[in-house]
Amino acid sequence: MGLAFRQIHPVFVGEVSGVDITGPLSRDEVAAIEAGMDRYAVLVFHDQMLTDEEQMAFSRNFGALEDARGGNITKPEDKRLPVGMNDVSNLGKDGQPLDRASRVRLFNLGNMLWHSDSSFRAIPAKYSLLSARLVNPVGGNTEFADMRAAYDDLDADTKALIEDLVCEHSLMYSRGSLGMLDYSEEERAMFRPVRQRLVRTHPVTGRRSLYLSSHAGAIVGMPMPEARILLRELTEHATQPKFVYIHRWRPWDLVIWDNRQMMHRVRRYDERQPRDMRRTTVAGEEATTLQV
Ligand code: OGA
Ligand code: MN
Repeated sequence: MGLAFRQIHPVFVGEVSGVDITGPLSRDEVAAIEAGMDRYAVLVFHDQMLTDEEQMAFSRNFGALEDARGGNITKPEDKRLPVGMNDVSNLGKDGQPLDRASRVRLFNLGNMLWHSDSSFRAIPAKYSLLSARLVNPVGGNTEFADMRAAYDDLDADTKALIEDLVCEHSLMYSRGSLGMLDYSEEERAMFRPVRQRLVRTHPVTGRRSLYLSSHAGAIVGMPMPEARILLRELTEHATQPKFVYIHRWRPWDLVIWDNRQMMHRVRRYDERQPRDMRRTTVAGEEATTLQV
């Protein structure tokens, strides 16, 4: 097995070599990648010319794919990609960049806020796997922040304050912070807030991390402005440059991150030109509120 890791940031992120993920992997290779995820939390693979089917097959090595329903406002008949793929491009079904006024485009701008994928679901995502099919010529880097290192770096008083706090997460909070406040009854029901612990523990390593996300908009039992200030302060702390890796995409890069211990965001790019990024999401296994 030629699979090897090289850490490319002072606190996290491994670059992986010696493996072709477009075809079936051995059990040892899958175990090595999982162990790499537990350690580095973000893994970068280069030159992986995946089809959608191959990307889904590779992702299933790490668990069941998450059901994308409830995570976007794109109508099924407008979807560009097959079921199982999350479209995080700026493209419509016709392959052209979405219009400036497109509600789907405006909704997707929420990916430019620091977040953890599917924190708005009762059982949030484990891994996200993002494949760069077409890289935008201007901007569009994806940034990752290590919520384990951010937690470790908190002072003791703050750790004690947040230890047992539970937040409410909803897509209406993240999009609401961008001024998108109008939702249909159906969307309101779909985006009903869910509860998540603010400090969570990794099931394998036992490491604790801050479970922050732009979707977090309230803290149970805390007045709203006080909660928002605390969340904002923690987010500022957690996204200091020392905890952040900036990924500059090359075509056919595939990046995997562990949503249980990372936040990420994409930076602005030239939306008149295509940026074709396709994500698969591995479902999580337990509600964070069941952790102690
Ligand atoms: C995502 C996401 C970032 C990007 O796929 O979950 O937030 O770079 N995308 O498009
Ligand atoms: Mn995301």
